[in-house]
Amino acid sequence: MSAATPPTAELHVHVEGTLEPEMVFALARRNGIALPDSSVEELRARYRFRDLQSFLDVYYANMVVLRTAEDFRDLAAAYLDRCAERGVRHAEIFFDPQAHLSRGVPMEAVIGGLGAALDDSEVSASLILCFLRDEPAESAAEALRLAEPFLDRVVGVGLDSAEVGHPPSKFAEVFRRAHELGLRAVAHAGEEGPPDYVREALDVLGVQRIDHGIRALEDPELVARLRRERIPLTVCPLSNVRLGAFPELAAHTLPRLLAEDLLVTVNSDDPAYFGGYVDDNYAAVRRELGLGTEQLRELAANSFRAAFLDEPRRAGFLAEVEAWQR
Ligand code: ADE
Ligand code: ZN
Repeated sequence: MSAATPPTAELHVHVEGTLEPEMVFALARRNGIALPDSSVEELRARYRFRDLQSFLDVYYANMVVLRTAEDFRDLAAAYLDRCAERGVRHAEIFFDPQAHLSRGVPMEAVIGGLGAALDDSEVSASLILCFLRDEPAESAAEALRLAEPFLDRVVGVGLDSAEVGHPPSKFAEVFRRAHELGLRAVAHAGEEGPPDYVREALDVLGVQRIDHGIRALEDPELVARLRRERIPLTVCPLSNVRLGAFPELAAHTLPRLLAEDLLVTVNSDDPAYFGGYVDDNYAAVRRELGLGTEQLRELAANSFRAAFLDEPRRAGFLAEVEAWQR
């Protein structure tokens, strides 16, 4: 474990967002798929995003190489190997089944492959099945129905993809069903969308964490509620800069979120696209925002407070954070 980074949980990472350009080419070769770019460098040169949609266009296009259970296993195994090297002790990993079902990849290959990687890893990990909010609610319901035989591997559901114009309330019914199935719930809200989407995610979807939530700061009443109810925010600093929420990391509002006494965590989102894994995000906020050791310890402790863990394991991880750099 890097001494510079506390032991942490990663609560906001899309497994498809860990697909490095080198792996895009390796899987394309293995599956006999022709790619639009002729080299890793050419592909990487297109990773300059204006906003969420311009990123999502590349993110979904690259998924064409993910076809078999083995592909999903290799993808998750590479991410979990990195976690083990970089001090991530627990990961709750998002995946986007609708983006694979629509290409004819069966749910069993997706969850079976990801699950095989989890079984083989020394890092504690679970899966969060995300619904694509820019697809119809019926498509989300169908994805959940298809996942039902495999839910022993899935800790919860989430909501991601293009936010603006797709309020959380569109997915009230499928989240109600997820709760009925005993699943936890999270949702992306307040990344590009307004503070009202954060409120809707809490009130209508019954989520236990908000992914991003950075725009909550525009609404003091909402901030007071997030503090009072100890609602975790899974913030992704490098992602926010790459997608244009802040002009540079030095302008990020992470210090304000901490000063508001919110339960903030630091995460990578889509590390293969945004210039770094979770430890790189910690290093960047230390360097560019001047956060000190005790603030990094607080962020790491928050990640375990916010994780879907049983209490003995949570206490064990929190003791590791407490002992870091003492
Ligand atoms: N899917 C992958 N990354 C995402 C992000 N940052 N916001 C919404 N959907 C996503
Ligand atoms: Zn995300």
